[in-house]
Amino acid sequence: MTTLFDRHHLGGPELPDRVVMAPMTRVRAGVGSLTTPSMAAYHAQRTTAGLIVTDGGVAQPDRAVQAEHPGPHTDEQVASWRPVTDAVHANDGHVFAQIMHGGEVFTPAGPRRSPTPWTSSKCPTSPLVRERHPKQADRTAADHWLDLGADLIGFDSAFVANPGLVERLRTGLPLAPAGPATYDQGGDTGHLTCPAYQYTA
Ligand SMILES: Cc1cc2nc3c(=O)[nH]c(=O)nc-3n(C[C@H](O)[C@H](O)[C@H](O)COP(=O)(O)O)c2cc1C
Repeated sequence: MTTLFDRHHLGGPELPDRVVMAPMTRVRAGVGSLTTPSMAAYHAQRTTAGLIVTDGGVAQPDRAVQAEHPGPHTDEQVASWRPVTDAVHANDGHVFAQIMHGGEVFTPAGPRRSPTPWTSSKCPTSPLVRERHPKQADRTAADHWLDLGADLIGFDSAFVANPGLVERLRTGLPLAPAGPATYDQGGDTGHLTCPAYQYTA
């Protein structure tokens, strides 16, 4: 039976486990939409993932969601990603770039409509509407999907709140709760400061 901690050949790279950090925009870029040392540290902290998909890099300047969205639409911005990928590789991780686009939601004139189709109670029967992150990702759900033939399992906000997510899953430690209160405070708070599991005597 395949487990979350089995290696996986993904074309070129051989991934050390089946855990993928899902693409997650973190809007923490600096001046000129360049990546920052904090972004390199954030990705490096999470390299026990078999594969990391990066923070969102916006390929077209007028489709950025916020000024803090990183490029890469200039050579300087492309080059600024190098310390991020180097930090992952230095920790034996594998990284794919997420090159994203605000799509129909974001126009040069700004947001066209609310980018938040998520709600919990107003229209519970609509297939487009669901409660945001109703439950924490867990090992049981991952094993279920692996049994059904999935090759890789993506984790999203659990990875933000738990930099050492793979070790927590491997050893059965509880996961720190994830959510905007944890990770949407801007700057390094909730970006670099989510702690490792604290053992008590
Ligand atoms: C903080 C945060 C940022 C996200 N940013 C992106 C993104 O930039 N690009 C993307 O494709 N998905 C993004 N997602 C979506 C996740 O990659 C993932 O597909 C989604 O959270 C899965 O939701 P579900 O488990 O409820 O199906 C983001 C999710 C979170 C929680």
